Parts: sequence; structure tokens; C-alpha cells
Amino acid sequence: MSGIVIKTFEEIEKMRVAGRAAASVLDFVTPHVVPGVSTEKLNALCHDFIVSRGWVPAPLHYHGFPKSICTSVNNVVCHGIPSGQEVLCDGDVVNIDITVIVDGFHGDTSRMFLVGDVDEKSRLLVQRTHDAMMLGIDVVKPGVHFNDIGVAISAFVKQFGYGIVRDFAGHGIGRVFHEPPNVLHYDAGFSRALIREGMIFTVEPMINMTQEWRVVVDARDGWTARTVDGARSAQWEHTVLVTSTGTEILTQS
Ligand code: MF3
Ligand code: CO
Ligand code: CO
Repeated sequence: MSGIVIKTFEEIEKMRVAGRAAASVLDFVTPHVVPGVSTEKLNALCHDFIVSRGWVPAPLHYHGFPKSICTSVNNVVCHGIPSGQEVLCDGDVVNIDITVIVDGFHGDTSRMFLVGDVDEKSRLLVQRTHDAMMLGIDVVKPGVHFNDIGVAISAFVKQFGYGIVRDFAGHGIGRVFHEPPNVLHYDAGFSRALIREGMIFTVEPMINMTQEWRVVVDARDGWTARTVDGARSAQWEHTVLVTSTGTEILTQS
């Protein structure tokens, strides 16, 4: 037994609604991601958008996380905490990660944003990380091993000399924010559980500009994960449903 639940038709329908809701928050915030805006302002805008619709921002107070969204700038890999002190500058890249609860079910998605004029190396990292996520999603169908997602991502990413973060993974999702399985984005070298129709999980690779894949979590806030060498990192995330032939991406707008 893998411990991975198969969703019912009713649960799947609610996950579709939650997924679309999460994507709509990213659509809403997009025009606000410009030089001079603070990450706290982005948090406040998203928070108000979410609660005014009767949805719940899942990160807020999740294991003590203090804000409603994650904002991860440049060398921050994930779980960046929005702050009024942190103002986006021309040339920055930022990941905004949105998780909303709608009628008890979670939708989880993140995108990268280019702030102003971004250098080509960073733009390529952002684009290729999106490609890596989609290639990972593309291998998903019933009967495939979870490890095949990581195999596909690492086969693609290898040619660029990037590092794939290992300390964070995609995850099953439903009524619970993070549930089995762990969806690894690198080749773990052995076969994990089999993917089956009706599973719902995220694919959310974090890719570093250098081969260095290790991260360090900020000792003061306990959340902010940064690359150990200061290199930039990119991430994209979708929540996907396994169908009889492949996937349905639930967090598309
Ligand atoms: N949204 C993140 C993920 O993709 C999790 C954030 S946990 C938080 O799994 F506490 F930082 F919000
Ligand atoms: Co996630
Ligand atoms: Co997320």
C-alpha cells in the first residue's frame, strides 16, 4: 500500500474549482509585480483578493508560516516570507506561490515573474524551469512510476549544468495541503509507487542556476530557503489530476 488516495468524482470536481481559484490569484497579481513594489504589498493584495471571495489562504499560520503567500526572490529557492522591507528591483526574478482552500479543498500553484529588465541567463533559467515542469507533467499517466517524473526533469536539465533541489518535493493534495506521495524532481535511482488514475498531486521543480543543489534554511525565520552559493533559483508549480490517458492540469487559468 502506497498510502496515496484516489479521489472520488465529487472530490475531483472540488479540486478543479480550487485549482482554478489558485490560478486566478496569480492572474490577478501579475500586473502588480513591478519594480518598486514590496513583497508585503503583493501579499496584502493576494490576501484581500482571496478572502473577499470566501476562500482561505492556506499558507497563513500553516505550521506557523506568518503570511498568506510565499514570495521567493532571486537566490531564494522557496518559502520566502513577504516583507515590507523587501522591495522588488529592476532585474529581479520572483516566484509567487499561491495555495487557496475552496470548500475544504486545496489548489496549489506558483509562477515566476520577471521584474523589469532581466538578464538573459536568468530568463533562460526561468523558461527552462517551466519547460522542466511541463516535461515532468508530460510523463504522468496511469502505470508510470513516480520516479519517472524526476528522471524526465533531470534528463532535460542536465545539459544546462543546473542543480535540481532535493530538499523539497511535490506532494499529494486534496483536503490536506501536503499528503503522500513525495513527488521528487530528480532521479532518485529507484522506482517509487505507481501512478494511478484519480490521484492528484503537484509537480513543482526548483532549479538552481549552478550545479549546487543544496539549500540552507534561514535560522532566524525558520522558513526562507536559499541556495548555499547565492545562485539564483527558479520554480513553477501545477496541481495535476491523473486521467485515464495522462493528466488534467487543475491550476490553469
Ligand atoms: N505552497 C508550497 C508548496 O508548494 C508550500 C508552502 S508552505 C508555507 O507546497 F507554509 F510556506 F506556506
Ligand atoms: Co505545493
Ligand atoms: Co505551492
